[in-house]
Amino acid sequence: MLALIGGTGLNTLEGIEGFQLSRKEGVATRYSETAVEVCVFSYSGVELLFIPRHGDGHVVPPHRINYRANIDALRLAGATQVVAMNAVGGIDPQLCPGSLAIPVQIIDYSYGRVSSFYEDNLDGVVHIDFGEPYSRKLRAVLLDAAARANAPLREPVLVIDGGVYGCTQGPRLETNAEIKRLRSDGCTMVGMTGMPEAALAREVGLDYASIGLVVNWAAGITQDIITLDEIYSVIDAVSPFVHALIREVIKPS
Ligand code: HPA
Repeated sequence: MLALIGGTGLNTLEGIEGFQLSRKEGVATRYSETAVEVCVFSYSGVELLFIPRHGDGHVVPPHRINYRANIDALRLAGATQVVAMNAVGGIDPQLCPGSLAIPVQIIDYSYGRVSSFYEDNLDGVVHIDFGEPYSRKLRAVLLDAAARANAPLREPVLVIDGGVYGCTQGPRLETNAEIKRLRSDGCTMVGMTGMPEAALAREVGLDYASIGLVVNWAAGITQDIITLDEIYSVIDAVSPFVHALIREVIKPS
């Protein structure tokens, strides 16, 4: 079953054309005191799972998210594939606000986050292969779905195949110098929530890919300061396409 992890700008699928909330399941995990609420939606007869990463009401900042509980709850609820929505700042000149990118690589600059299921009570140390952090198969599904979502549009939305996601700690945005450093490291986009989520999904064998939704230019790429108002106006403008893209991902092709 497909699961969607919503990020900034996608807190629920309720009210989106075609989606019906079937039920909410409280899923108890070993990693949280309270159960994780997993929403089960149906779209054209197909069920999918949904979790808002920042919690109901968008209240949990990136560095305080219980990534382990979220991933484990999705696994326990029957997910086999996870599509993550991640708002990002564009570093590469191609990645202008309002475009999307399906990243192919990650550099993790976050720190102090519990980042593995293999922490204690181990029979032995575990090292997952993470050379290609995103599922090739699921990336291809997303890119195909994006092409189908774009097909009827007079002005297609730019969807970039690839790019390197730099994951910063947040919740503050970066300094101009930090973005310069990320750029010279090869990052094309920057966000705060891509890790450890992707690695945890790999640890439990879930197919995982990300939709990077570019909501601003990263710090210092333009002279402008970054405002939440601008970020939300970009999200509003691109949301219909994001919804169409999700519908195409679910529709059996
Ligand atoms: N930096 C980090 N995370 C982000 C940004 C950014 O510029 N925009 C959206 N998420």
